[in-house]
Amino acid sequence: MSGAPSWSEEAIDLVGSATKAPSSHNTQPWFFLIGEPYVDLLADTTRALPVNDPDGRELTISCGCALLNLVLAAADRGFHVENRLLPDPDESDWLSRVSITRDSAERVPEAELARFIDQRRTCRTRFEPRPVEGKAVDAMVEAAAAEGAWLRPLETDALRQRAVELVVEGDALQWGDPKWRRELAAWMHTRSEGDGLTVSPFTAPIAQMVVRNFDMGGGVASKDRELAENSPLLAVLGTDDDSPRSWLAAGQALQRVLLVGCSFGLRASYLNQPIQVGELRGQVGELAGGEGLPQILLRFGYAPNPLPPTPRRPLADVIEWS
Ligand SMILES: Cc1cc2nc3c(=O)[nH]c(=O)nc-3n(C[C@H](O)[C@H](O)[C@H](O)COP(=O)(O)O)c2cc1C
Repeated sequence: MSGAPSWSEEAIDLVGSATKAPSSHNTQPWFFLIGEPYVDLLADTTRALPVNDPDGRELTISCGCALLNLVLAAADRGFHVENRLLPDPDESDWLSRVSITRDSAERVPEAELARFIDQRRTCRTRFEPRPVEGKAVDAMVEAAAAEGAWLRPLETDALRQRAVELVVEGDALQWGDPKWRRELAAWMHTRSEGDGLTVSPFTAPIAQMVVRNFDMGGGVASKDRELAENSPLLAVLGTDDDSPRSWLAAGQALQRVLLVGCSFGLRASYLNQPIQVGELRGQVGELAGGEGLPQILLRFGYAPNPLPPTPRRPLADVIEWS
């Protein structure tokens, strides 16, 4: 009997790598249809965030992150991969078909990034004060461009300070909106639920009640101000236009940037508030040079301690067989 894994086993394993991607509020808004020899990626719009993300922009970006993981993981296992990006206007949730064959044993150099899929985490703590090395910044800028997006570091104190003020304004506007707070509270889950923003089972009911009912924008904003001001690098990731196709590209670019950052020992987290709030988004765009659309505002730096992984849904819940 051969010890080689079957296609089904390989495909499940690849989907496992895909689902390690980051997602907005850890909603994991994806779904995988496995056929032979392909894996289709679909958006699971039942996991949308209608208040935080009314157009499904971040939902599609999250799916783009999962898509890049899938492609890299398949390339890393020696498969030939063709990533046919949709979305098809008639089937808008169907985002991509990734054909995976043994046609060529040639290993693409980018497959190396797959080994950082397990290491990447969102790191919400303060970073060490040392600057991010220039070659890491250049590599992340190239990574975004490789996926058809751009990453623009905020290089002057004035730009950084303006970004911090926009984050603070974004916090105030989001926390002042009871619908936004209710949606956030609904995604505060215990680890055993497999998704959402993790809270301890002992404090979950109180934490959810507080978030639902109280505007804590002031406290959150001062913490975000402190984190942002002390981050060695702030950068805007964006695209030239604002369509589902470019959101998907933004997701692939985001994940590639994060993995490349990881390869340099960098950690990252998000300051997306002023992009999520429609009236502030244009101002973030101006910080990034005024051309194109900002999709994600990131902070980068170094932090000493390893972080535990956040939970993921069981693979059986995100896979269907064609
Ligand atoms: C499109 C997108 C938007 C996100 N926005 C935020 C955000 O505004 N604030 C934040 O703290 N984390 C944000 N995150 C990070 C997620 O909360 C995080 O990926 C999720 O909780 C899973 O944790 P992990 O990244 O450590 O695997 C975002 C992630 C993605 C992909």
